[in-house]
Amino acid sequence: MRILAIETSCDDTAVSLVEASGDLSAPAFTVLAHEVSSQTATHAAWGGVVPTLAKREHGKNLVPLLAQVLSKAESSEKPVENPPAGGLEREVELKDNLIEFLQQTNTPNIDAIAVTQGPGLEPALWVGLNAARALALAWKKPLIPANHLEGHIISPLTNPPVGGVAFPALALIVSGGHTELDLVHSWGQYEQIGATRDDAVGEAFDKVARLMGLPYPGGPAVSHLASRGLSSEPYEESPHKRWNLPRPMIDSPDFDFSFSGLKTAVRYAIEKHGELSEQDKETLAYEFQQAVIDVLTTKTKKALQQFNIQTLIIGGGVIANQKLRHHFALLATKFQTTNPEFQLLIPDFQLATDNATMIAMAAYVRYLKNEFIAPDQITTADDLIAKGTLPLNL
Ligand code: KG4
Ligand code: ZN
Repeated sequence: MRILAIETSCDDTAVSLVEASGDLSAPAFTVLAHEVSSQTATHAAWGGVVPTLAKREHGKNLVPLLAQVLSKAESSEKPVENPPAGGLEREVELKDNLIEFLQQTNTPNIDAIAVTQGPGLEPALWVGLNAARALALAWKKPLIPANHLEGHIISPLTNPPVGGVAFPALALIVSGGHTELDLVHSWGQYEQIGATRDDAVGEAFDKVARLMGLPYPGGPAVSHLASRGLSSEPYEESPHKRWNLPRPMIDSPDFDFSFSGLKTAVRYAIEKHGELSEQDKETLAYEFQQAVIDVLTTKTKKALQQFNIQTLIIGGGVIANQKLRHHFALLATKFQTTNPEFQLLIPDFQLATDNATMIAMAAYVRYLKNEFIAPDQITTADDLIAKGTLPLNL
């Protein structure tokens, strides 16, 4: 089936068209078209995502992205003459453009519309939800609400592993809003075993970047600096070492994380040191990144051993970090020496950060589990609301 998916949970507006097939044991995906419009420039001036600005930008960006993506879809039917405007009253930036788009665009050859229902920023989520609702009503297609975290977990499946995924798998989500370890019993069945008690790891990157005077989003900026902070000296003698940052909860008996103390330690280190030279920034970024990597890999390794896991899946914006990818690749290689079947699944670079392809994929799992809204039930569906704190294991 062909799924048109919309993602507006944070500061990226994204639309994808994905062909999905197979059953829950081996879902398969082909990306037909995908577009992402980043709002980084809008939010950078504020040092972080401003929900009202995100909402406005999603409203402006969505229709041009839909037009681009659907230009790749065949269409068989004529445009809708009188598209229903219900539900779009609150979307001032979107309403007129979307209705005009529906009146001018041939009804595309798609089978369902997917949209991120949560978690995320509610004003931002509502834009996508209202748009998806209007499209599904006008084109009389099923509507599939999707979970953003399930999207991050399933994102590596655009390159499915040979022989399929062995369950239970372990998923590590490392994004701007979440850091958690989940057992994946099967697609659609998750059990959280650990999570951050305070800041998410991406949030820690963003806050540390701000402390160091780097632009938003902090992850790419810190990791770029860190890559220049590499040293050939042994670690014990290297200039990174003197920052002496903690590895919070690295030895705790559970699978929880805490990154707020690490960020505070960076703040104290900067206050104590005074103005940072370029080399200081590089070594501090390196040491911070290494502290994060040490904690994430140690906790993940412990969970892999304890639950005797065959497949490790990592998703979320922070896995765009090259050094983190490298360290998890090393970890996987170690497991493969004793268990050749062990697999590490990491999304392609552009599918690590937010996108709508992963939303189409997560929606397909929901569709196979019969969790979608039939076209004639859309106007009365009372659960079709943005859910800012939607958990994964529902
Ligand atoms: O998954 P994502 O796009 O959005 C959320 O669902 O939160 O993740 C965004 C997060 C941001 O905190 C950003 O700083 C971080 O991912 N990030 C990185 C890198 N690229 C993005 N963190 C570390 N290194 C990177 N290269
Ligand atoms: Zn995300």
